[in-house]
Amino acid sequence: MRTVEWDYTNHKLRLIDQHALPGEFSYLSFGDYREVARAIRNMVVRGAPAIGVTAAFGMALAARQSRARDTASFLQDMNRAAEELRNARPTAVNLSWAVERMLGVISRQPATPESLRAALLDAAQQLADEDVRTNQEMALFGASLIESGDTVIHHCNTGSLAAVEWGTALGVIRMAHQQGKAIHVLVDETRPRLQGSRLTAWELEQYGIDYAIITDNAAGYFLQSRQVHKVLFGADRVAANGDVVNKIGTYMLALAAHANHVPVYPVVPLSTIDLGTQNGEDIPIEQRSPDEVLDLMVNGMPVAPADARARNPAFDITPHRLVSAIVTEAGIIYPPFKRNIRRAIEHNLK
Ligand code: MRU
Repeated sequence: MRTVEWDYTNHKLRLIDQHALPGEFSYLSFGDYREVARAIRNMVVRGAPAIGVTAAFGMALAARQSRARDTASFLQDMNRAAEELRNARPTAVNLSWAVERMLGVISRQPATPESLRAALLDAAQQLADEDVRTNQEMALFGASLIESGDTVIHHCNTGSLAAVEWGTALGVIRMAHQQGKAIHVLVDETRPRLQGSRLTAWELEQYGIDYAIITDNAAGYFLQSRQVHKVLFGADRVAANGDVVNKIGTYMLALAAHANHVPVYPVVPLSTIDLGTQNGEDIPIEQRSPDEVLDLMVNGMPVAPADARARNPAFDITPHRLVSAIVTEAGIIYPPFKRNIRRAIEHNLK
């Protein structure tokens, strides 16, 4: 199952509707790049690699939608689409990375709009296929850190729903399971949008992997009582110094793991590492609607008073000192991160 895929029969983009899960598995089709930007903003599709590839196909759609006959006006249309897609969500760097890759296709081959339309679709498809390959390479490296019998805490959703087909941190868990290792996953429910309960638990059901959902604030208890061997999560952006920006709650989890001597492993493709950002503090943190916090209902009743206020940062920064190693498709990167991240990226480019 691909979370993000081009439908070659009707030239539309197909996305698994993540709002409908876990109750219903369905796809939505998109023929307009503006609708694609809205789907990213509203989190019909979410997860750093998935939104990157979605934006790339959004650019391919924009190319099809453009009526431009000459290259200059085609470029104008594409820059407008790039701006809208890039701004759909601010934190995950994969979004701007993918959009830049698509713009690079245009600048590399000054050609007619018609040939560029085909080239952009090819490039988006390549990005999607590359994402699956990269995830599997990371998963093999990451699985080498997992021992049979391990209990792992996992935060947010990092599975195939957050990528194209395999996943990042959950991809490591899948790989370890496929290798025959017994693994138990404590799934952080991941307030406020509950990606853990709704999406990660649903995926683990599909793969037949043993798990239990825990409230986010139970993680400290499990870590302190020595019931956890590893903590795994993905990332939306990693700074050049190894600071990791990921779903809100990751920082508290990493703090508790570090205090209890449990290793902390972010699993990230190199496309999530932003060498242009020196520290985590320089990464923009998306502030989402308070409704995501306040709209929670229990037994059909809202939990908060009618006029309650809320604050809802979607991501936080885990300083690199709390990170044991970063798993990438180029291998496992250990501290000192600043030097070793740069080496891994340079080596991968060769
Ligand atoms: O707000 P979301 O659901 O897009 O956030 C997703 C995450 O934080 C994931 O953990 C992250 O993208 C990890 S990489 C698959």
